[in-house]
Amino acid sequence: MEGYRKVEILSNEQLTSDMFLMKVALKDLPEPGQFYMLRGWEGVPYLPRPFSVCDADGEVMSFLYQKIGKGTAMMTTFKPGDHIHVLGPLGKGYPLHQGPSALVGGGVGIAPLLYLARKLEGPVDVFLGFREEVFFLEEFKPFVRNIHVSTENGSYGHKGFVTELLTDDYNTTYACGNMLMMKAVKERIHSPLYLSLEAHMACGIGACLGCSHKTKHGQQCICKDGPVFNSEEVLFD
Ligand SMILES: Cc1cc2nc3c(=O)[nH]c(=O)nc-3n(C[C@H](O)[C@H](O)[C@H](O)COP(=O)(O)OP(=O)(O)OC[C@H]3O[C@@H](n4cnc5c(N)ncnc54)[C@H](O)[C@@H]3O)c2cc1C
Ligand code: FES
Repeated sequence: MEGYRKVEILSNEQLTSDMFLMKVALKDLPEPGQFYMLRGWEGVPYLPRPFSVCDADGEVMSFLYQKIGKGTAMMTTFKPGDHIHVLGPLGKGYPLHQGPSALVGGGVGIAPLLYLARKLEGPVDVFLGFREEVFFLEEFKPFVRNIHVSTENGSYGHKGFVTELLTDDYNTTYACGNMLMMKAVKERIHSPLYLSLEAHMACGIGACLGCSHKTKHGQQCICKDGPVFNSEEVLFD
């Protein structure tokens, strides 16, 4: 595992039925939107998994993750004092622009937005979309002006999709979520917009070409050329 570092897990807390927050002892200060390949297991699943930096203060780094398959199920079993292997920081993060910003996240896509909110200087409004269970609102409060929330079942905030709440009157909009959501945000926002894209990743460093996405400049690797792209560059089917 060349380039991987062994780091200690400090905590691994369950937030909702499937969301967890893991803190590790890692002194890096990456750019908001950058990610790490994480591996804390031997054998199946063989590949490491990519996770965005949720927060970092130069001593402790947090990863917000959703239990979705084999790797993330294994992550839920990690205890304080256990060790994982990390490769990073990887990829290109969000550029930090002046002036009012909107941060838009869907589900676990809110993960990189907390660290971004802490780094931006202008007034920041966040737009957070959830299926049913709402999480992480308190964490955003100290760093943002307004929090707009939607749930698909209407159990909290606006009933529907968070993109329905979004207005195009910010200097810059930053978004992270699934491809359908990124496409919907791009259709709605015509001012400067940065999208963090997702893909299955095997290497995380541009070597396997497994994470390519169509852009104005041809196919690009989400891991190396992204995961954050200027929306003008990204093409959707
Ligand atoms: C740059 C980047 C940053 C990410 N940041 C985070 C984060 O901060 N927190 C977080 O919880 N997740 C994040 N993800 C997604 C995360 O990497 C996957 O959820 C994880 O790899 C799943 O591993 P698994 O072994 O549990 O699931 P698997 O057993 O590999 O898959 C379970 C199911 O999830 C689907 N799936 C797996 N990975 C993806 C993906 N990348 N996109 C869409 N569907 C997928 C599979 O198709 C399958 O249906 C990020 C992905 C990328 C590319
Ligand atoms: S994950 Fe291998 S090239 Fe992107």
